[in-house]
Amino acid sequence: MAGASTKRPQLSHLGYALIVFYMVYMFCSTTSELREKVALNQRLEENARTISALEDALAEERKESILKQERIEKCCGECVSKISSKSMTQNVLGTQKLHSTQAHAAEVADNHKVQHKAGVSFGAADNTLAILYATYAADLMALRSKMKSWADQAKLHAGIGDLEAEVLYLRIRALKPKNVAELGFGQGLCTMYLLHALQDNGSGELTTFDIVDEHNRAKDIDPSLKKRWKLVIGDGRDNLPKYGSFQYVHSDAEHSVSFAQWLVSKYLEPRIGQSIQVSFHDVFISGSKMNNDPEGITPEGRVVLSWLAKHQKTMLEVHSVFCIAQSAFTSDYDRVRQLRADAGLDEEWIATKASAMNQPSIFFEV
Ligand SMILES: C[S@@+](CC[C@H](N)C(=O)[O-])C[C@H]1O[C@@H](n2cnc3c(N)ncnc32)[C@H](O)[C@@H]1O
Repeated sequence: MAGASTKRPQLSHLGYALIVFYMVYMFCSTTSELREKVALNQRLEENARTISALEDALAEERKESILKQERIEKCCGECVSKISSKSMTQNVLGTQKLHSTQAHAAEVADNHKVQHKAGVSFGAADNTLAILYATYAADLMALRSKMKSWADQAKLHAGIGDLEAEVLYLRIRALKPKNVAELGFGQGLCTMYLLHALQDNGSGELTTFDIVDEHNRAKDIDPSLKKRWKLVIGDGRDNLPKYGSFQYVHSDAEHSVSFAQWLVSKYLEPRIGQSIQVSFHDVFISGSKMNNDPEGITPEGRVVLSWLAKHQKTMLEVHSVFCIAQSAFTSDYDRVRQLRADAGLDEEWIATKASAMNQPSIFFEV
């Protein structure tokens, strides 16, 4: 075998081609595996982010529900402490099944869910009103008799509906404000309710803003009420901020979008959190020539409702938004009528004009 040459096997072109093909194949499959891994990692990271966002939202919701529960408990505590007489408690409990803690909490929470089309939740107020109507029944009876004779004498049966005027009176009685502002004097019916509330409280002053005393009504205000009253002539927008701070603001002035925008954006917005109670007249007007909106909401009313809806999340006290307009909240209107009947109040209405009869105001707190 000596001399026999050892011949190495030579790779054919086909062999080379196969090796190259194998290497390219391996490279490609590794790259696509890598790509898949990267994509998977991205998906995992995205999922982790979604989970953490959901956890945050859940924690926020829990926080909100704890706050809501605290508010309900606070409301129960305050309302119960307002009832001093046992018979009143029984009357309220008997008619409204209120303040049996859990049942009341559930009822209040349920009322909070009531949503109006404009996006603001209404309700819950009638529970507080039940207490207030029962607590101030005798004062309301005396008030109505005084208001009736004043309105008959003045031949004045418009300006503010009886039910909403009573709600206004009760809110002022409960709040005991130092300073109340009224935008729009008109014929003075509402002014009289406000002044009587302050007189019955034995404290507090009212400042009324109007561009004019058109009906020469200021002279008809009784001197015993007048000592708590100031009438400021001029545009309410210019004057209201100049007259100090108010704990209650009632607005029934210029019926325009721009006036409502000024009130919510310029006056109320910077004061959110200051616990100012507000009532805004002429939001729900049904069957009136001046408003043919399909939902019966005035243009200026829409401005206020949208503003409230926008601030629903930031205003913790937004649950105090309520309305008893017969056209939009018939069952709340009926409940208040029942509360009045339980308090022994008659239905010989003082304000008989259709728009006032609908009780168009909304009430809230900022
Ligand atoms: C519908 S009346 C108010 C009725 C009143 N609530 C009552 O019980 O008789 C509206 C009043 O707002 C007044 N007013 C209109 N524009 C105003 C403005 N920019 N500032 C203050 N008052 C204004 C009008 O002069 C009018 O007297």
